[in-house]
Amino acid sequence: MNDSSGQRPDPVTEILLIQAGDLVPPVAILDDVAGSLSRAVAARGYQPRVWCDDVRAEQQVPVAWRRATPDEAVTGARTVLWRLPRAVSAVQEYAELIAATSDPDVRVISAERDKQLSRSMNTALARCFGSVSASLGHRKARALLASDPIRRAPSWPQTARVESLGLDVVAHGATFGSNRLDHGTALLAGCLDRLPDAATAIDLGCGSGILAALLARRGMRVHAVDVAWSGTDASRLTAEANDLSVEVIRRDGLRGWDEPVEMVVTNPPFHVRAAKDTSPTRALFAQAGEILTEGGELWCVYNAHLPYLPWLRGRVGPTRIMARDRAYLVTRSIRTERTRHGPRHPTQI
Ligand SMILES: C[S@@+](CC[C@H](N)C(=O)[O-])C[C@H]1O[C@@H](n2cnc3c(N)ncnc32)[C@H](O)[C@@H]1O
Repeated sequence: MNDSSGQRPDPVTEILLIQAGDLVPPVAILDDVAGSLSRAVAARGYQPRVWCDDVRAEQQVPVAWRRATPDEAVTGARTVLWRLPRAVSAVQEYAELIAATSDPDVRVISAERDKQLSRSMNTALARCFGSVSASLGHRKARALLASDPIRRAPSWPQTARVESLGLDVVAHGATFGSNRLDHGTALLAGCLDRLPDAATAIDLGCGSGILAALLARRGMRVHAVDVAWSGTDASRLTAEANDLSVEVIRRDGLRGWDEPVEMVVTNPPFHVRAAKDTSPTRALFAQAGEILTEGGELWCVYNAHLPYLPWLRGRVGPTRIMARDRAYLVTRSIRTERTRHGPRHPTQI
């Protein structure tokens, strides 16, 4: 099964298309990768409605097919093709949404690689659909097929009170760390009263928006940036729940950011989907270094074994450790004129 460019699709796309058989429109797609599923559906004569959590995946889908929220994609759909998310809580949230808003005759074809699937995903689907079955394996991937939707009151997004910070935190099922306080985030939050005065700040990789909310509470104008809708929308809801003003922006890092900023705080990512990969974080530091004002600061928390200190010194400027515990470090980097134009010695990066 090759696509229009003669390429064989990835195993998950391929099993979704095989198991879907004849499509009945409207066709919704949740979480396409590289636009391959969307293009294959279009090649069969249907215009898909596509929603992707990650903006980088969305950008590979033609604009006319994109939808801004999962609701807009699945409402009234009769076929849903769904690359399953990693978190069971996200499977729960989207299963509830599909069951509540799609056509009663909807057929849901969901799939992932075998190593990412778990029995709890079947259980989450079986709460929301009268019929759930698994396909045979295909190139180490498998489909879970569901029909007969059971409408339930949505249990996501969910709010939890984080007493230690005096915040109500809201999360979607796919939001990093859900609505709990991550250990690293807690260490960085404990340092925020040592931040210098700044008018503008960015929470880079905002997740549920805890750091953004804390900065807004200190009177800063805050942008909460995340590559995932499940991060930016959760940050919007967290700000609302605490009566704070935060501007959320779904984008990939800070490249092309047009306004200099005095402060960036971040608990940066260390995963690209399932794989541990620190190279995107290195790029994020460089981008932060580019947009900070002279003397502006980057505060970062990360797992102490990661090699970030030389990267921060090379890409942002002089960096000191401000707090540490058994697992994490909090660093403060000050942007200098020299680092704006790149490090003197490339080996310092
Ligand atoms: C370790 S989590 C931190 C979340 C939140 N700030 C906290 O402390 O709980 C990292 C976040 O970065 C986001 N992220 C990953 N890559 C990104 C990118 N290229 N640009 C913006 N955000 C990104 C992830 O979606 C995730 O929400």
